[in-house]
Amino acid sequence: MSMNYRRCGKSGILLPEISLGLWHNFSTADNYSNARELISRSIDLGICHLDLANNYGPPPGSAEETFGRLMSEQFAAQRDSLLISTKAGHLMWEGPYGDWGSKKHLTASLDQSLKRMRLDYVDIFYSHRPDPDTPIEETVSALVQAVRSGKALYIGLSKYPPALLKQACALLREERIPCLIHQFRYNLLDRSCEEEGLATLREEQLGSIVFSPLAQGQLTGKYLEGMNEDSRAKRNDSPFLNEAQVSSNHAYILKLNEIAKQADISLTELSLRWLLQREEVSSVLIGARNISQLNSCAAAAGCAPLSEQIMSAINAL
Ligand SMILES: NC(=O)c1ccc[n+]([C@@H]2O[C@H](COP(=O)([O-])OP(=O)(O)OC[C@H]3O[C@@H](n4cnc5c(N)ncnc54)[C@H](OP(=O)(O)O)[C@@H]3O)[C@@H](O)[C@H]2O)c1
Repeated sequence: MSMNYRRCGKSGILLPEISLGLWHNFSTADNYSNARELISRSIDLGICHLDLANNYGPPPGSAEETFGRLMSEQFAAQRDSLLISTKAGHLMWEGPYGDWGSKKHLTASLDQSLKRMRLDYVDIFYSHRPDPDTPIEETVSALVQAVRSGKALYIGLSKYPPALLKQACALLREERIPCLIHQFRYNLLDRSCEEEGLATLREEQLGSIVFSPLAQGQLTGKYLEGMNEDSRAKRNDSPFLNEAQVSSNHAYILKLNEIAKQADISLTELSLRWLLQREEVSSVLIGARNISQLNSCAAAAGCAPLSEQIMSAINAL
């Protein structure tokens, strides 16, 4: 199995088609040796981009702590072969400076993230979400400072709506620190970015990374036979996926699975390859609970592009 790499927008950075996110399964409550195996196997598979955020856990910060321990105990020698990102902008600590997009929050949060991850710098520092109450100029100035201070190499923006994304990109260009990448949700169950978001990426010639490409596991074989007890939808610490969502999508997912069978690939592979068919997508950012899930996602990198017939069958559903 070999990984393909795609250029991230107009930058010098190549991203693996499949990247690994540490939102789930890397908290201090999760199994440490499983976390170590996931990182080790990712590196072996050529998945050299690892995505974190200040608040990943639970508790918030604990995924970065686990990752810091892994880096110092085992992977420090590979630092230059890894592209590591973190983010700030969701609730991290109580009080007026623990959330959103102020310069105060972003600057303090990045310092805390570096300590937890035991790193001198991150490769990408993201504004995790737009802040309706902070001027975009202030958020951008914090990102620019992160790069100028050497604490981040590149800037990313996450979940920015098209008009604000353009505005932020223009401000960053003025500072000669162009935005590297936009991170947003896109999968076979959520195609809302096709309305305007993808066109904005093309216009800005921006790299992109798609989160929850498997709709948090719904676009794998996991729920084909109904609810799966051993799943994110059943976890009580995962408020973003529940049984009602899974049930409402079940009929559509069964149909997608029939198309995957026609293409002679798994539903996981179909779902990831479908995203990678778009030239606006630089990388798909998966999550994995164990090595078997990681392997089955990575297998998508080795699949041929989907035929026109398969693409039409998907669009006809
Ligand atoms: N910027 C943002 O605001 C934002 C938001 C969300 C995520 N993200 C990033 O995107 C990353 C990925 O998000 P995600 O975890 O939602 O991605 P995802 O790939 O859509 O879902 C991953 C989950 O699907 C299940 N799964 C994966 N492969 C499977 C397989 N082969 N068979 C059965 N189940 C499988 C596992 O859940 P089970 O526990 O059910 O096994 C796994 O944890 C995050 O880690 C984070 O870095 C960013």
